[in-house]
Amino acid sequence: MKLNPFAHSRGPLFTTDDKRAIVWFFFGYLWPKAKWLGVIVLLVTLQGLVYRQFLYLTENGLRVIFEKGSFTQLYAVCAAVFGLFMFRAVTSYITPRLSAWVAGDAIYKMRKDLISKLLSFDLSYYERTPPGEIILRLVQQPDGLGQFVGQGTVNALRDTLTVIIIAAYLISQQPWLFLFALGTAPAILLAIAMISDRIKKIQREAENVIGAYMSGIEEVANGMRTVKIAGQEPAEQTRLVTASEGIKWLLIRIQSVQALMMPTVDVAAAFAYMLVIGAGGYLVISPDHDLDGAGLVTFLLGLVLLFDPARRAAHFFVTLQAQLVILRMIHGLFELEPRIKDAPDAVAVDDPKAAIRFENVSFGYTHDQPLFEDLTLTLQGGHTTAIVGSTGSGKTTILSLLARLYDVEGGRILYGDTDIRDLKLSELRHQFSVVAQDIVVFNKSIWENIHYIRPDATEDEVWAAAEAAEIADLIRARKGEPVGPKGAQLSGGQKQRIAIARAFLRAAPVVILDEATSALDQKTEARVMRALDRLAAGRTTIMVSHRMSSVMGADRIYVLESGKLVEDGTHEELMARGQLYATMFEAQRSGYD
Ligand SMILES: Nc1ncnc2c1ncn2[C@@H]1O[C@H](COP(=O)(O)OP(=O)(O)OP(=O)(O)O)[C@@H](O)[C@H]1O
Ligand SMILES: [Mg+2]
Repeated sequence: MKLNPFAHSRGPLFTTDDKRAIVWFFFGYLWPKAKWLGVIVLLVTLQGLVYRQFLYLTENGLRVIFEKGSFTQLYAVCAAVFGLFMFRAVTSYITPRLSAWVAGDAIYKMRKDLISKLLSFDLSYYERTPPGEIILRLVQQPDGLGQFVGQGTVNALRDTLTVIIIAAYLISQQPWLFLFALGTAPAILLAIAMISDRIKKIQREAENVIGAYMSGIEEVANGMRTVKIAGQEPAEQTRLVTASEGIKWLLIRIQSVQALMMPTVDVAAAFAYMLVIGAGGYLVISPDHDLDGAGLVTFLLGLVLLFDPARRAAHFFVTLQAQLVILRMIHGLFELEPRIKDAPDAVAVDDPKAAIRFENVSFGYTHDQPLFEDLTLTLQGGHTTAIVGSTGSGKTTILSLLARLYDVEGGRILYGDTDIRDLKLSELRHQFSVVAQDIVVFNKSIWENIHYIRPDATEDEVWAAAEAAEIADLIRARKGEPVGPKGAQLSGGQKQRIAIARAFLRAAPVVILDEATSALDQKTEARVMRALDRLAAGRTTIMVSHRMSSVMGADRIYVLESGKLVEDGTHEELMARGQLYATMFEAQRSGYD
């Protein structure tokens, strides 16, 4: 038989994860300010004590009135009461200022750690996680948490201490009466437990919906060109409006559930007042007991003073549950560890011009779909190696593995004699000048976009790189105007030339060109290619291209087909063999004719 009908459906008030998140936040971010926390606790304790003294003075004041004491006594009581509340006013001003500062600082530090944590995550994290979710974690959730910690928690602390102090006073005066009033406590506790549980569930749902909504906005804003051409504005509008309606209902549901808390306390208070007036009145009227009118009125006043903070503390408790969901989400991020990071004894690259060798490499983006199995190839130091192959054959993936954007699953990649996993990550990546297939430009001027790749470069060096990439004229024409989000104001070829200029500016020992000139017209391509040849001279160069004409001159060409190497050799050797490469080459040449 179940004693508690809710037991099966309700989680504990604080799960292990909740506790870990609280401990993490408290000791990580609040504890460093322990001295000030101590001051805050002291101030709120004093605020609670003011109420206790007020009750004590009131009881005495009432006796002076009821028993017709002297005016001087009455004035003294009045002055003391006034003084007490003035004192409370001063502490009420200092406490929130202090707590806002402590909480603001804690949240700032947490955000700082969150930023560096997020930046440490593997590329694959960003390929899985919608940007809206990241923005939510970084912007909205810490903000809410900050307000909650700063104001909510300190007020709740003050309220709880006030309840305890007043309760202690009332118990010391009238233990039996207090016991009557206490009869209502279980109802409040049960309500807290039930409401908390429901709030947690709704809040979790709400955070997910808000994250999805933000990602939706991001997607629409970024994909506006496609949205417009496809005429999908109405569909996107419906999608976003439906999501925001979902948010509306979830927020209403949370608040409605939270709103149950206050009336529960009020009903409990009604019972308590009724019981106390009934029982207290009986004690006053019956001659066997020593409770007088002043004592009863003060006790009732004490209850009023007690229930008010108790209501607020109960409300705090149920909003706490929502904040705990958020705290746990943030804490969850801190528990993720990037998989690609420096080995403990990582070493420096000793010969940047050394050969790079893939040895029996296996890799797949998903475990059930391997892309490479037992891939072996050599990129000879100081020479140009080309990789050709049909779309989706894994060319870009080879380059990503080289830069450790992903780690191989089997086999290894050697740079010289060292496994790249034993090299310092930043050093390894510093060896590459990359013109990637998907070019990322930021909403700054073209000049700044080029400079970004090597912030220590001089002005002349940036201009030289821009000239080599044939983009200098455009820089002058645009006069430092930003290029729009993701370079929306530039053509594909212009973005590509920014990427090429970056490669020139970086001028690292290894040059990686992934379809580097695919978006350029033939005349510009020919000029840029000549400049790239000068850049490649004496450097280890890896060139990926669909255009056979641009790989012809490579020292060695690998032909990749669905993740497998099918041929390799020089252009002449491969042509002489007359297989896949020769077929592809002939097909393209006849296409040009
Ligand atoms: N980030 C990723 N997550 C999951 N799968 C991916 C990812 N990137 C690529 N793939 C898959 O891996 C395979 C190889 O992709 P890759 O980008 O290496 O091809 P590619 O040879 O460069 O093609 P293209 O010539 O079109 O640029 C493809 O089937 C692709 O769908
Ligand atoms: Mg590619």
